[in-house]
Amino acid sequence: MKVLLVNGSPHANGSTYTALHEMEKVFTEEGIEAEIIQIGNQDIRGCIACNGCRKKGSCVFEDAVNETAAKFEEADGLVVGSPVYYASANATLIAFLDRMFYSTGFDKTMKVGASVVSARRGGLSATFDELNKYFTIAGMPVASSQYWNSIHGNNADEAAQDLEGLQTMRTLARNMSFLIKSIALGKEKYGLPEKETKVGTNFIREI
Ligand SMILES: Cc1cc2nc3c(=O)[nH]c(=O)nc-3n(C[C@H](O)[C@H](O)[C@H](O)COP(=O)(O)O)c2cc1C
Repeated sequence: MKVLLVNGSPHANGSTYTALHEMEKVFTEEGIEAEIIQIGNQDIRGCIACNGCRKKGSCVFEDAVNETAAKFEEADGLVVGSPVYYASANATLIAFLDRMFYSTGFDKTMKVGASVVSARRGGLSATFDELNKYFTIAGMPVASSQYWNSIHGNNADEAAQDLEGLQTMRTLARNMSFLIKSIALGKEKYGLPEKETKVGTNFIREI
């Protein structure tokens, strides 16, 4: 069993990393392989809506998106971490997630998702909600903790002093481990839920 932890911060060892690392330690204790992928300091452009991925099966731009997508396909869980920038996620991370989720056709049903956010002061729960949207459009159950998954601190030293934030991360990782293991058992016993042929509608109607 494997979990990917994506760090959307440009700081490889900052506040967001402190939260992700706290989770990584618990995953290891739980016997789940964990890999932190550093994204926020990479040059990752946004989606250009060319729909080239529909033919190619992956994004037309060869960068960390396609590399991580291959790992995501194999993984049982995905944690997405971001610093809060103007009450929203870091723009590089959003470019990465838009392209990774849009360009990949593999089934994400029952891969467990979780988002974690770090900030000096405000905008945490708005960012948390924003990131969870990627999971809930993809059939991915969202793991939760004892509080909305956030840590306070402008840097790693400050984040390390947020004892409640760190505990929230450990609880989240334990709950996520339980879900991943339970889903693995469920898949063996019941298989994945049946899928209907997808119906697509839009809001343009003739009067
Ligand atoms: C462009 C920018 C915008 C920011 N906006 C916010 C904000 O809206 N609310 C907040 O509390 N902190 C804000 N911050 C501070 C970061 O969220 C905070 O330093 C974060 O913990 C850094 O995480 P990191 O060490 O993982 O990069 C902002 C920082 C930057 C660089």
